[in-house]
Amino acid sequence: MKNIQIGNTDIYTSQVALGCMRMADLSSNQATKVIETSFEAGINFFDHAEIYGHGKSEELFCQALKASSIRREDLILQSKFGILETHYDSSATNIYKSLEGILQRLGTDYLDILLIHRPDPLMEVEEVAEAFNSLQKQGKVRYFGVSNHNSSQIALLNQYLATPIQVNQIQFGPGHTLPIDSGLYVNTRFDQAVNRDGYSIEESQLQNVRLQAWSPLKSSLSKGLLKDDPEHVQMVNTIQDLADQYQVSFEAMVLAWILRHPVAFQPIIGSMNPIRIKAMVEGSLIHLSRKEWYDIYSSRQDYPMQ
Ligand SMILES: NC(=O)c1ccc[n+]([C@@H]2O[C@H](COP(=O)([O-])OP(=O)(O)OC[C@H]3O[C@@H](n4cnc5c(N)ncnc54)[C@H](OP(=O)(O)O)[C@@H]3O)[C@@H](O)[C@H]2O)c1
Repeated sequence: MKNIQIGNTDIYTSQVALGCMRMADLSSNQATKVIETSFEAGINFFDHAEIYGHGKSEELFCQALKASSIRREDLILQSKFGILETHYDSSATNIYKSLEGILQRLGTDYLDILLIHRPDPLMEVEEVAEAFNSLQKQGKVRYFGVSNHNSSQIALLNQYLATPIQVNQIQFGPGHTLPIDSGLYVNTRFDQAVNRDGYSIEESQLQNVRLQAWSPLKSSLSKGLLKDDPEHVQMVNTIQDLADQYQVSFEAMVLAWILRHPVAFQPIIGSMNPIRIKAMVEGSLIHLSRKEWYDIYSSRQDYPMQ
């Protein structure tokens, strides 16, 4: 698998990452198998959040990694903070507390990348920057990023941070194309031209922020898997036909479609099934033609361009 650089950092890592949101549901042996299979398939980037399994996913990952032959220093570990049971909290007190918990559960004395999980309307940007700068100085966090933020929110943080934001994790996949739709429909009256969240993929490129695509196989958070979505039957058939032509799984073809975009998304795949993970990674070896990429995109039910 190809290696990619994260933003302007010295981190060169796998093009595909494994998301550990559902690791808490596994036994320790199953988690070890998932980590080992991913690593053998070329994945050395693992995405966490303190909220995943209420900390259990991070804890289990640590146990499972210890039982494997893989060394922590050969991995890039990312986690997120800020979503509490009843509210979001980006206060300095919570940043320090969350980071200590993350490090303890992951059994490491440094985190490669720490993300703000979601924008907090009560964020005091100078306070966040002071905490981030201090954690970086202490060597506890190498770099910082965000998730589900728009470009202005990133620019604001960058005004105060010693080292700018390097990552933005957003939902993207053939079942969820919002990040690219408004760019395609510029100056039209189609609903897709509406940029409702101020997010701009071009701004991310200008800021050299590495975009990560969460839930690549989903239609939307509430709707579940794209392949089971009755609203996207035509698109699912197009993806499956191409998958058959390339002799890969449906999920691998979804990955190939995401990776074909020049912004070079890092997909965060969420499977906890070693067979599926291995098959999916085959998608990173496929370079779709422009026509094939558009065949998938334009088979969306809501694609009005002719
Ligand atoms: N930043 C954010 O706000 C945010 C939000 C959501 C997620 N994330 C991150 O993104 C990662 C991936 O999210 P995700 O898990 O939703 O991603 P996903 O890769 O789109 O979906 C994975 C899920 O789909 C199931 N699946 C895949 N193919 C299947 C098939 N053919 N038949 C049945 N089930 C199938 C997997 O089950 P198996 O385990 O059985 O394969 C797994 O439960 C998370 O782990 C997390 O790190 C971030």
